[in-house]
Amino acid sequence: MSGKKVLVTGGTGFIGSHTVVELINAGYTPIIIDDLSNSTPQILNQIETITGVKPDFFQFDLCDSKATFEFISQNSDIDGIIHFAAFKSVGESVENPLSYYRNNLYSLVNLLESLSDRPMNFVFSSSCTVYGEPEKLPVTEEAPVKKAESPYGNTKQISEEILLDTTKAKGNLKVTALRYFNPVGAHASALIGELPTGVPQNLVPFITQAAIGKRGDIVVHGNDYNTPDGTCIRDYIHVVDLAKAHISALKKMEQHTDEDRFKVYNIGTGKGSSVLEVIHAFENATGVKAGYKMGPRRPGDVEQIFGEVGKAERELAWKAELNLSVMMSSAWAWENYIKENPM
Ligand code: WQD
Repeated sequence: MSGKKVLVTGGTGFIGSHTVVELINAGYTPIIIDDLSNSTPQILNQIETITGVKPDFFQFDLCDSKATFEFISQNSDIDGIIHFAAFKSVGESVENPLSYYRNNLYSLVNLLESLSDRPMNFVFSSSCTVYGEPEKLPVTEEAPVKKAESPYGNTKQISEEILLDTTKAKGNLKVTALRYFNPVGAHASALIGELPTGVPQNLVPFITQAAIGKRGDIVVHGNDYNTPDGTCIRDYIHVVDLAKAHISALKKMEQHTDEDRFKVYNIGTGKGSSVLEVIHAFENATGVKAGYKMGPRRPGDVEQIFGEVGKAERELAWKAELNLSVMMSSAWAWENYIKENPM
């Protein structure tokens, strides 16, 4: 039981809440900052039901520098930070770029400035979107970061650069950037999961909402790609596996074994699955039909991407364990839970 205090920004969100559960399981003491712009405080009760612990929660916007500085100065015993808080919709970022640049970048700068020269282990929620359409597959961490396809993806690239430059200037800051592939699924308890607001942009919540009757048929965005079944390929990873990678990253930084204070890791399964394969995996895992029809390509989609994930396995002693079938069955259990227990 390290009991070490870890700040989780965006900790009531989809990935944040699953990471808070795994932090508690690993004996850490998580505290959460969230502005609740894309989540609900009910999640805190869910976390308590799962773990028996209700984490301390502070509701404010990290763009509020006064509140951020006050919080950090009043919590001098924070050993680590896991920074999730950010807007994350690709489509929305195209319509409203300035809100993405302001929110995602200003909140990060505020948080880093408030740390002053305090020693800190900092895990950053990055994304495979920094790779754009990779030339080579599977994509490695050494692949070139390409011009972002969206302001959202650009904020992740710029954030990594801000963090890299800051580790050079601050001798006490260690950063691990985790480049997520496609997080899906839900906790085995079905008490926490993805809570998309409005019409889901992402594939798996759309599948489960279509299957439960909240939506019409799934529209498959394009089946004329140069892939075996013509639909796009992604590296889907169970959100619990992803959450555990954050604990592995913290532990690695606590060991002081790495002179390099800015590290990047791909966090995926290393396996690509097409849209149709995901839909069929859902039907096989749940026995429930998910109606779909073919539609036009979605602007900004890359044809295929999946990760080379050996570096995280070697250096973080972390590897994804849950397969596509468990991702689908857990997502379905969660969809049924929120139908009976709206949040
Ligand atoms: C997956 C595939 C769609 C919906 C996401 C996040 C991004 C980043 C990476 C974190 C694509 C197809 C989807 C539908 C469909 N995550 N699709 N019909 O675009 O890979 O990116 O993960 O940083 O923030 O947006 O995921 O789930 O939106 O799409 O055919 O109704 O499913 O075209 O090929 P994506 P997605």
